[in-house]
Amino acid sequence: EGEYSLRPKFLREYIGQEKAKGNLEVFIQAAKMRNEPLDHVLLHGPPGLGKTTLSGIIANEMGVNVRITSGPAIEKAGDLAALLTNLNENDILFVDEIHRLNRSVEEVLYPAMEDFAIDIIIGKGPSANSIRLDLPKFTLIGATTRAGQLSAPLRDRFGVTLRLELYTPEELALIVKRSAGILGVPIEDDGAMEIARRSRGTPRIANRMLRRVRDFAQVRAGGVITKKVADEALTALEIDHLGLDSIDHRMLRSIIENYRGGPVGLETLAATINEEAVTLEDVYEPYLMQLGFLTRTPRGRCVTPKAYQHLGLSVPGETGGLD
Ligand code: ADE
Repeated sequence: EGEYSLRPKFLREYIGQEKAKGNLEVFIQAAKMRNEPLDHVLLHGPPGLGKTTLSGIIANEMGVNVRITSGPAIEKAGDLAALLTNLNENDILFVDEIHRLNRSVEEVLYPAMEDFAIDIIIGKGPSANSIRLDLPKFTLIGATTRAGQLSAPLRDRFGVTLRLELYTPEELALIVKRSAGILGVPIEDDGAMEIARRSRGTPRIANRMLRRVRDFAQVRAGGVITKKVADEALTALEIDHLGLDSIDHRMLRSIIENYRGGPVGLETLAATINEEAVTLEDVYEPYLMQLGFLTRTPRGRCVTPKAYQHLGLSVPGETGGLD
């Protein structure tokens, strides 16, 4: 697949997420020693951190195939039954956005996960009968941005739960350098660090920025990614020095200008800036909280003095040393 895929194939190439990686290494080795499928795995955390990548890595490390699907793509119980009956022994079924499975599909999943069997209803009304169909042993890997939205019975059927965290700029710089190597584009250390610092803790964003910075580098800077060309490209893309885009800026400014710095409820804030509440919660808030620009309180969202400073605004209640 050449340069098209920047995804690592094995755990040893996967940068960061040390806690999740360390645990997985043990569970994979133990399952292989017992010649069993890996226990079902739930991956949760913000989007773009490598949940799909990790499921491919788990499959490669286990030496099995992975079928990739998503909650919304499995519309009917029969769709899930078709997927499950076509797996080979010890294969992996990866279900992205697993919190979006509908109820009737989820109910087929319970005996499938627990007993490797599905119950099929034959006929209708008083003469209806159910027969049990055995499945190959398999591993379900579920991914979600919102573990809190999974039903308790589904969550309880995962033997392993791994929480993925936003990456540090240092980890992202390593990922950017690895990706630049695959793309065959020369990059200086501080060029990689500049992209890393502006990628909001997210490899998917870092790799996307790398491709755009490469365009600028080729056209305007003789092909080498330096800090200067990275800054030029990312400024042209309206990404600020910490990676915040126009939606982050509108969120923070709205809390400050319309709600005196907060607290303001998420739904109210979303309506004010005309964005979806779930997008703000899943995509924007994790990074603003990691930066220490936003806090969640029982009464709503608040911005911190650090956010005022980043926006070049004076912090309310601070007199600038004149008192
Ligand atoms: N590409 C995307 N995510 C990665 C990771 N965690 N390690 C290495 N390369 C990646």
